[in-house]
Amino acid sequence: MKRFGVSMEDGLLQKLDKIVSKKGYQNRSEAIRDFIRDHLVEQDSLDPKKEVIGTLTIVYDHHAHDLSDKLTYIQHDYHKNIISSTHIHMNHDKCLEVLILKGKSYKVREIGDRLISTKGVKHGKLVITATGKI
Ligand code: NI
Repeated sequence: MKRFGVSMEDGLLQKLDKIVSKKGYQNRSEAIRDFIRDHLVEQDSLDPKKEVIGTLTIVYDHHAHDLSDKLTYIQHDYHKNIISSTHIHMNHDKCLEVLILKGKSYKVREIGDRLISTKGVKHGKLVITATGKI
């Protein structure tokens, strides 16, 4: 670990300290390291050819016509990229699925886009994270 000095205006430093205290960081350094890692992960996710891992959450109404079949069909198109899937029956009508996806960034985004945009999916969110190298 190396140390370096950072110059910052008062206003920005106050905002940093608020975040440090609100999120419960031990100190400024820990927070700044997290911000840099988050930035690096985001940069990787924007590079279509970078290997990434992500979680996709979708909520849908299983009564919607053919919807469960359509979602399963799409998932089988990407069986090599879907390394885990969990299905929860939220209530009488709604289902929640969480998929863990791995592969090139463009492919992981494509899977997210196809599933989230399927008619009848009420909510969906893709979160891309690092593959462990950061
Ligand atoms: Ni269900």
